[in-house]
Amino acid sequence: MSGADGFGPHFGSEASEIPPLMRPPTPPDRHEPSEPLRFPSTTTTVAPQAPVEVEAQAATPEAPAEVVLGATGRPMPDFPDPRPVTLPRHARVISMCNQKGGVGKTTTTINLGASLAEFGRKVLLVDFDPQGSLSVGLGLNPHQMDLTIYNLLMQRDVTLEDVVVPSGVPGMDLLPSNIDLSAAEVQLVHEVAREQTLQRVLAPAIDQYDVILIDCQPSLGLLTVNALTASDGVIVPLECEYFALRGVALLKTTIDKVQERLNPRLQVDGVLGTMFDGRTLHSREVMQRLVEAWGDTVFHTVIRRTIKFSDSTVAGEPITSYASASGGAESYRQLAKEVVVRCLDV
Ligand SMILES: Nc1ncnc2c1ncn2[C@@H]1O[C@H](COP(=O)(O)OP(=O)(O)OP(=O)(O)O)[C@@H](O)[C@H]1O
Ligand SMILES: [Mg+2]
Repeated sequence: MSGADGFGPHFGSEASEIPPLMRPPTPPDRHEPSEPLRFPSTTTTVAPQAPVEVEAQAATPEAPAEVVLGATGRPMPDFPDPRPVTLPRHARVISMCNQKGGVGKTTTTINLGASLAEFGRKVLLVDFDPQGSLSVGLGLNPHQMDLTIYNLLMQRDVTLEDVVVPSGVPGMDLLPSNIDLSAAEVQLVHEVAREQTLQRVLAPAIDQYDVILIDCQPSLGLLTVNALTASDGVIVPLECEYFALRGVALLKTTIDKVQERLNPRLQVDGVLGTMFDGRTLHSREVMQRLVEAWGDTVFHTVIRRTIKFSDSTVAGEPITSYASASGGAESYRQLAKEVVVRCLDV
């Protein structure tokens, strides 16, 4: 897409980045104690917009009361189990978006979707990346797909029902994708209302699902602008590494421009720290910097680094079924509860 239409490669380059971490280098083998971190409540303040108050233990003269801080450094709220869904359905459309590759967009789409389905939500996942990782991660063979989202976008006679497939998780469907989608990016340039194409084809799904999660490709090109235009909210997965902070300002500028010019209802639903390693000072400092920059937009839930995510991808299923009792599965269930509190049951 050209820079002339406002979403080109140099778009938003004036955006200021999150400043660098101000810390002298530490020895490479330095490790910090594992989470959860405990601090005296006298030195802890509850974040002003935290959705749920944290219960502090009763203070005694000898031992001051304690508040358990979450990995973001803020008191960890106790998110309730989601209420049963109310009919009629009206889906919230949420894009997983970050132009940086390998930050956990696809992993979050699969596992947040599967967790919301476990809580009784009817979920549609949209694979909007020509890499097709979401489809492969749910066990589909990219070479054996009759119809994909590409056909839905480009052929008027193909309907949503023609392309939707079951994901293998009860209550969760999938619009699959493969490398064909890369041609859409080029072909859509010549379409009328090219940025609204995905929104138009998803319209019949809005009253059939409670949540539609779109897995974006790692770029800010026309496909991603389509995803943002079709969405009510954006979740930004962000790896807890310093380099991951670079480029976040550019992403925010793009979101702001889409909101201004194409989709006034678009909101940032949350920034999600992924691949967090609570043993390292580095991970915790990156998280602290994120909270300083984005405040309560940062989810209280963080996703820790564990090899089980790669294993579940190879198995072609969500971690919530592959390793149901694992910490990774529990984290995504907690994220699902937080997402429901923040932006679904409101
Ligand atoms: N919390 C985690 N701990 C360890 N590995 C993880 C975690 N989350 C994701 N991974 C692994 O990191 C790799 C990249 O994750 P994923 O594919 O979800 O990122 P992505 O942002 O969708 O990438 P892309 O930009 O290429 O689409 C995968 O191999 C995945 O299994
Ligand atoms: Mg991906």
